[in-house]
Amino acid sequence: MANHIFIKKKINSFNKKILVSSDKSISIRSILLASQAVGVSKISNLLESEDVINTLKSIKRLGINYLKQGNIYKIYGFGINGFNIKKNVIINAGNSGTLARLILGLLVKVKYKVKLIGDKSLSKRDFSRVIKPLRLFGANIKSKNNTLPIEIRGTDFLRPITYNENIGSAQVKSCIILSALNTPGITNIISKISRNHTELMLKFLKYPIKVKKNIKNEILSIKGLNQFQSFEYCVPGDISSASFFIVLTILSNNSKMIINEVNINESRIGVTKILNKMGAGIQFKNKRIYNGEKIADIYIKSKKNLKSINCPSSLNSSAIDEFLIIFLVAAKSKGISQFRNLGEMNKKESKRLDLGVKFLRLIGIKVERFKNDIKIHGNPKLSLSGNYEMKKFLKDHRIFFLSCIAALTLGGKWKINDKDSANTSFPSFLKILKTLGAKIN
Ligand code: S3P
Repeated sequence: MANHIFIKKKINSFNKKILVSSDKSISIRSILLASQAVGVSKISNLLESEDVINTLKSIKRLGINYLKQGNIYKIYGFGINGFNIKKNVIINAGNSGTLARLILGLLVKVKYKVKLIGDKSLSKRDFSRVIKPLRLFGANIKSKNNTLPIEIRGTDFLRPITYNENIGSAQVKSCIILSALNTPGITNIISKISRNHTELMLKFLKYPIKVKKNIKNEILSIKGLNQFQSFEYCVPGDISSASFFIVLTILSNNSKMIINEVNINESRIGVTKILNKMGAGIQFKNKRIYNGEKIADIYIKSKKNLKSINCPSSLNSSAIDEFLIIFLVAAKSKGISQFRNLGEMNKKESKRLDLGVKFLRLIGIKVERFKNDIKIHGNPKLSLSGNYEMKKFLKDHRIFFLSCIAALTLGGKWKINDKDSANTSFPSFLKILKTLGAKIN
């Protein structure tokens, strides 16, 4: 079956309430922590996307059973380091950097050799960021050039570490936290601020983890080897998935949207902060706290007169997966928008900074680039009429979503490749677009 779609028409105005897919970061973490809990955990509203299915398959390969009953996944944990294997195993993280990096933290003490592999995109990504701290713990890791495949063989001789995490990567921070669970004594992490779902979930589980925060850093201390009980958890909506519908609404004519039940954790809402500085007027209503995470309904309306932004890089980490779609808003705004220090974008599923610039140029926007800083010359009258196609984007789901939103809001005749990439994080993406009236062939 063809793996591309055509969009040849802008979307008409709409006024709709939607739900987006469940949060990917939280889904993966809830499975990994349930695999280490004592007893049967019940997770509802789990994201059923490829990255999350690969997480379930991985714990299964490691001897942890799960069962789906209605909307609930039951996960049968045996406690910390309770992976139940009797031979060497291979686990496949597919496209997921989060799964690959986090699960390594849980494998530092397993009895057999575990080989971690991934798809073409993941196999190009750098793992030195987690190999380095894991070796300090005493983990036995083999890898050529710090990329996948990686072999890890557990050891009983782990020692706690004090680590300076200066990338601002939640995957690195979480990998260290998970390794600390297996390690006697207290592990300390001085970390640049990044998403904190792992810490919040462990606090919800009453695990002994302490977090202090100042403007730039988080200081974490984790006491190792404390068992925690199984739990029940309901995964909220994903702000990263919501961001494509937020921008769709802002850039469409006379439209309104409410997105219900979205996670608005402070470490994830860089996108709405940035768009509101550009005049988007996005509102969070009905805010509530659920198991330590903040949730709200998001209200969005179409906006004319968007203005450029000089984006503070202090917001980079909390919007790291959303810059591609933010760039599209910058392309439609009045003035020159500036974004700095976005090198981490090139370390994702594809080289997103390079491809983001290529995309903007494809749609006729002037972009100046100096290393990891860019200036986007916005054009509020931007409207497309030619033929467009993005090629060679390593099936990156977020580039696929960006292309669809650009086609539906700017016009032109688009061929959009690698439709299946949506399954990585948001399998119902095209279905929701169609319920809003989008014509997609
Ligand atoms: C994620 C952290 C971010 C993000 C990724 C998901 C996570 O990566 O880009 O999509 O769930 O921890 P980094 O931690 O490498 O910045």
